[in-house]
Amino acid sequence: MSYKQTKVWNVDNLNDGYTSDPDIKEAALWIKQGEAVAFPTETVYGLGADATSDSAVEKIFKAKGRPGDNPLIVHIGSKKQLTDFVAFIPRMAEVLIKEFWPGPLTLIFPKRANVSEKVTAGLGTVAVRMPDHVVARALLKEAELPVAAPSANQSGRPSPTKAQHVYHDLHGRIAGIVDGGPSGFGLESTVVDCTGDIAWILRPGGVTKEQLESVLGEGSVRIESKKQKSHHAPKAPGMKYRHYAPDSPLVLVEDTKSLQQNLQEAKETGRKTVVMAVNEHQAMLEQDTDAFICLGSMNKLEQIAAHLYDNLRQADQWDADIIFCETFPKEGIGEAIMNRLEKASFQS
Ligand code: TXA
Ligand code: MG
Repeated sequence: MSYKQTKVWNVDNLNDGYTSDPDIKEAALWIKQGEAVAFPTETVYGLGADATSDSAVEKIFKAKGRPGDNPLIVHIGSKKQLTDFVAFIPRMAEVLIKEFWPGPLTLIFPKRANVSEKVTAGLGTVAVRMPDHVVARALLKEAELPVAAPSANQSGRPSPTKAQHVYHDLHGRIAGIVDGGPSGFGLESTVVDCTGDIAWILRPGGVTKEQLESVLGEGSVRIESKKQKSHHAPKAPGMKYRHYAPDSPLVLVEDTKSLQQNLQEAKETGRKTVVMAVNEHQAMLEQDTDAFICLGSMNKLEQIAAHLYDNLRQADQWDADIIFCETFPKEGIGEAIMNRLEKASFQS
């Protein structure tokens, strides 16, 4: 499918008391008519299509070049919609919905038979989330449909946190983009499977393990890792692919001393480098690299998360032989930041 033009709607005038807007109405109409339309959420931009239509959902996979065995998240505008396509709501899910919806938390449910196989990639479960962003909520309200939406990037590339990122990856391949300014958190939602006794984090994200534990109790939340994979039901199928990756190879380096050594070696062999590090380490590193990209302050991980994908895209523009990036402690938001960096690097 190709489009002569991808329409861009600018909607910077919406506020929380949304009633009506002609641009949102048009974008919603296009979704109802079976088109794929990108829109901002509080995590990253999503590429949305009618989750009840096989042909609309197919357009998402085609536009992104996404493997068909990687299921999509269904986005809803009100909690009432959940029972339309979920077989039952586990007790733990009820608690999490009450606490975290709308918000950056995706929950896995046993699905009802009416959910398209295209959305769930043939699994017996469906992933659902209720986004907390004025544009996403307005669009879902006007569309009056469950909307399947992966991140609106070309498959494998860093997720989009600005409308320009979506345009760069998908113009001519999708019908339209609703531009609502930069997305909020900057990394995707946390995906949690709570169909059993334990809440398994299949993908760390906007809601941290610590936050989940604060409502479910300590010991009842675990993070899925490669080691645990064989012991229980499926992890998020999407996590097996290399993801979020710039075109130049990305190498993670744990401490600044080794980073300096790596840069010396690269210099000696005439390789062009980009360094991504916090401003506290800038003075120490910038003279030995072709480009330095400041990730923010090591004391403000939320800022690092919000700009990480944009920084990965910028690093790529240098056409470097190698991109070095420093690492962060895997606690709180650091868990999601490191998960994305590891997936983007050659080490995972
Ligand atoms: O923040 C987000 O979640 C964004 C915004 C647009 O909402 N969406 C997003 O979608 O990140 P996507 O498609 O890029 O990632 C969805 C993840 C994948 O890792 C996929 O494998 C997993 O959720 N997933 C979807 N359905 C699943 C299911 N039934 N069981 C396990 N994992 C599932
Ligand atoms: Mg994605």
